[in-house]
Amino acid sequence: MTRNIELTHQQKRAFQPQKLSAPRNFIIPNIIKDNNSNTLLVLEIGAGKGKHALSFAASHPDKHLIAIERTRNKFEAFTKLFEQQLPDNLTPIHADAIAWTVHALPPNCLTSIYLLYPNPEQHNLNQQWLNMPFFEFLLSRLQVGGTIILATNIETYMDNAVQQATTVWALPNSLHKIAIESQRTHFEVKYLARGETCWELTMTKPQGYKTRFDTWYASTSNINNTNK
Ligand SMILES: C[S@@+](CC[C@H](N)C(=O)[O-])C[C@H]1O[C@@H](n2cnc3c(N)ncnc32)[C@H](O)[C@@H]1O
Repeated sequence: MTRNIELTHQQKRAFQPQKLSAPRNFIIPNIIKDNNSNTLLVLEIGAGKGKHALSFAASHPDKHLIAIERTRNKFEAFTKLFEQQLPDNLTPIHADAIAWTVHALPPNCLTSIYLLYPNPEQHNLNQQWLNMPFFEFLLSRLQVGGTIILATNIETYMDNAVQQATTVWALPNSLHKIAIESQRTHFEVKYLARGETCWELTMTKPQGYKTRFDTWYASTSNINNTNK
């Protein structure tokens, strides 16, 4: 693919959203369909059993969190907790986040995106979010000034993420160590209890950022968006 010189970033391989089918039983949640009310939308990818999602929803009543988890047993545990509290500013989604994001989200709709302890197979670099061509698509769904928050206990993952954020994605970013008393997610609790260091990288989408997907939206593109 020829590089478009107007792109902000240096990623050469283009993601191909038109090749992805919609997830099973896919429907676009009302909060996205009817969001003329300027609700601040936040996305969490890999929400696990929902610990962060539920506490985020409780402490940010002004925001609506869409929390996606693809592993069935984790999603079921999440759903149980969700049903005990039923926060109206939280939408749990059982799906692969890549296909779901492609089919559900319009450009520039998110104020933040959380990627908390993604932990791919250690040696599979292609599974790290900032190495994926999909990351460009994800950036196109983020508003200017919006943030992507990545947390991990894997030092090499974080080193690579900082490097990719800076040199490939051209995103202003800041890194800090997570406080040992933090308890945002089940994995965070586990790692900190073991005495491991956890890091958090916050990346901000700057003014004028350009991706190849800034006007691309599944519902207006010629792809199959019907229920499977
Ligand atoms: C190590 S767990 C961390 C869960 C939670 N964030 C925590 O910190 O406790 C990573 C989770 O991400 C989920 N995940 C990974 N890739 C995903 C994808 N493409 N879509 C949805 N969930 C994904 C996995 O199923 C897994 O539950």
